[in-house]
Amino acid sequence: MSVSRRSVLTTAAGAAVVGVASTPAVGAATPHALREAADFAAERIRTVAPNVTAFPVGTHFEKWVYSQNGGWVGGFWPGTLWMAWLHTRDDTFRTWALASAEKLAPRQYDTSTHDLGFLFYPSWATAWRLTGDDAWRTGAVQAAESLIQRYNPRGRFIRAWGALTDPTNAGRVIIDTMMNLDLLAFASRQTGDPKYLDIAVEHARTTQRVFPRADGSTPHVYDFDPDTGAPIGPNTVQGYSPTSCWSRGQAWGLYGFTTMYRRTGNAEFLATARRLADFAVRSLTPDHVPVWDYRAPQQPHDIKDASAGAITACGLLDLADATGRRSYREVALRLLTALAETCLTRNSARAEAVVARCTRHRPNEDGIEISLPYADYYLLEGILRVLRPHEVDRAIDLSTV
Ligand code: GLY
Repeated sequence: MSVSRRSVLTTAAGAAVVGVASTPAVGAATPHALREAADFAAERIRTVAPNVTAFPVGTHFEKWVYSQNGGWVGGFWPGTLWMAWLHTRDDTFRTWALASAEKLAPRQYDTSTHDLGFLFYPSWATAWRLTGDDAWRTGAVQAAESLIQRYNPRGRFIRAWGALTDPTNAGRVIIDTMMNLDLLAFASRQTGDPKYLDIAVEHARTTQRVFPRADGSTPHVYDFDPDTGAPIGPNTVQGYSPTSCWSRGQAWGLYGFTTMYRRTGNAEFLATARRLADFAVRSLTPDHVPVWDYRAPQQPHDIKDASAGAITACGLLDLADATGRRSYREVALRLLTALAETCLTRNSARAEAVVARCTRHRPNEDGIEISLPYADYYLLEGILRVLRPHEVDRAIDLSTV
């Protein structure tokens, strides 16, 4: 089903029926409001950056908590600094971005995680695009080489978690991995070797076959027998249940399938991106800040995850360009407006992050309505996709094959 004015209106009407009519509906952002939000973000980052010595992973009482090696999020701080540089053209941000990205260098050889795209795409691939220094390109290609070691040819998927020598989780696939595939597309383009993109396409096809349900929602996890490659079934870790729909996972999926369409021209990937996007749009409440799981028990009044809103906005802007459908852009603008009007840390002198009201891992009671570095990164990416699309294209490559 396509997103049409009717389906957007249906969303609002449906939400009213379940009792959130008093939640204020969000109007579309003006360029002025988005510029103001980006200005605020850049100033907040400028103030905080001199004290940032490692990679922010989330906040505790509004202050960043750090990982020394970057965990899975180490690409977002340098990525955020690049976005701040594109917005302001203040070279201080560029200097900080390069220094932060450099600290990720050891991770290019890390075969123990699928997160190499999150780590190296917004940081090293972007650094190469914006500086032309070949060391960044070589490192990003090495990270892609590490990532493809995790491919299971029997099940045709990239394993998400765990060291390759550890049998635990060997057959576990997660929707998030869709966001790591662009690093593989990048490596094939840069080297002329199709093996990276071929694996990305196989993984996307497997994900497309087993994750989307008839209504376009997705589980967080799908398990396979790692030895035979036989499918076992849906599951979850960060969502509410195997039959629910973790909103950040849905956002990773709709953004990732849109990217894979742009890198391959495969119309089935575009159709899948639309199914996932349409479900996410239908699930939004009038305030346009996603609940952490679209099927959480207390939804639509459950805990929020603004990071899901920022990622969804970026994916919908990309999907609007890929499909020529303005309705996706209109929803994206409403999501960015909601972030700018109701989620920024403007009124806190203590806060070190830009976006509040994000949830990291609700089932673990870990990081409930805190700030997360990917919310800051995707807020800026989303705003700049609207205000400075050519600059964002230079940084992360918005082209379609
Ligand atoms: N990729 C992990 C998360 O979104 O929390």
